[in-house]
Amino acid sequence: MESLAIYIHWPFCLAKCPYCDFNSHVRAAIPQARFRAALRAELAWEAARLGRRRLTSIFFGGGTPSLMEPETVGALINDAEKLFDPVPAMEITLEANPTSVEAGRFAAFRAAGVNRVSIGIQSLDDVDLQNLGRQHSAAQAIAALETGRKIFPRLSFDLIYARPGQTLAGWQAELRRALALALAADHLSLYQLTIEPGTAYEGMHRRGEISLPDPDTAAELYLATAEEAQKFGLLPYEVSNYAVPGAESRHNLAYWRYQDYAGIGPGAHGRITRNGQITATRRHRAPESWAERVERDGHGSTPEEILGHEDRAREMLLMGLRLTEGINAQRFLARTGVQLMEAIEPEIFHQALQAGYLEHNSATLRATPEGRLRLDALLRALVL
Ligand SMILES: C[S@@+](CC[C@H](N)C(=O)[O-])C[C@H]1O[C@@H](n2cnc3c(N)ncnc32)[C@H](O)[C@@H]1O
Ligand code: SF4
Repeated sequence: MESLAIYIHWPFCLAKCPYCDFNSHVRAAIPQARFRAALRAELAWEAARLGRRRLTSIFFGGGTPSLMEPETVGALINDAEKLFDPVPAMEITLEANPTSVEAGRFAAFRAAGVNRVSIGIQSLDDVDLQNLGRQHSAAQAIAALETGRKIFPRLSFDLIYARPGQTLAGWQAELRRALALALAADHLSLYQLTIEPGTAYEGMHRRGEISLPDPDTAAELYLATAEEAQKFGLLPYEVSNYAVPGAESRHNLAYWRYQDYAGIGPGAHGRITRNGQITATRRHRAPESWAERVERDGHGSTPEEILGHEDRAREMLLMGLRLTEGINAQRFLARTGVQLMEAIEPEIFHQALQAGYLEHNSATLRATPEGRLRLDALLRALVL
């Protein structure tokens, strides 16, 4: 039976950041007890239909899961460990924002069973943090990193680059500072700012109130990012993710390797194998209507879709070519029912090989660093 990763979504934040289109909402008072009960109920419902599986990771994402009561985190971890068969020293990650209140709860999250924290630093520049709508200063971010590395065995942090007005030299200096500060971090997520539909940044961008680095500068920033991270022993294993070898996020690898994951909580999606079929699952997005449905039906799932061979092949290509390790051809066939070479556009494949964007042998297909630099365009052309 397929092993399982569990994603649990906490949909609340202190404020909505103007660039963010995640399923995150601001409420005058967070309905903690209601959401604890609903998340536990939905996890139990999912477990009842999946049966006992080998559990490889749990990830609390958001929104801002560091606004959860630690008892809620503890109860969900306990439930999951009883309902499934956890692997030894299972990775349990919680995303945290670095306000002082949240960093003050790190010890309680650790006591609840969390062994990996992923801190959303975004920038070390106070003016930029304000422009990004963040509720913390650079000093608070640094303090949260220091607290985090004392408390958690594993620590990752996020930065956003290619921000409005950012220069190559500015980003290099900021990244070097961040890397030097967080010597104990075993993992880094470095995201290029994207303008997402429906966000405040989209309107500002359309009106010309913010301007982003041009594509050439953005590419330079990307290459400089990988170069700086590697100086600190953090190697790129995915387009935006860097790790000390062995410290890759097991949970995120499950997505990119196209393994099974269950998505619990508002808006969460999952990929679940049952009776040899892979099903795409998705929960209702609006937090309160999701909770109502859980209270009424035991779950907040929307109608599910069984994925055909072509859907699976497309999804596994889109995920797997993000990884430095690429896609294993045998596993691709076993998981999708399609030969790897039959799932891609032959003409584009040959052009991309010649251009040095792809590498291929009988066992593996992978994008080179040059290919990952222009991955979106490459995938659009390559994937049938
Ligand atoms: C689910 S978010 C949140 C975690 C946490 N709430 C926080 O803000 O730190 C995960 C990460 O996605 C990144 N992100 C969100 N929107 C983005 C965007 N438009 N462009 C680039 N990165 C983005 C941020 O780095 C963020 O830390
Ligand atoms: S970036 Fe994080 S804190 Fe900001 S709105 Fe999105 S999820 Fe919430």
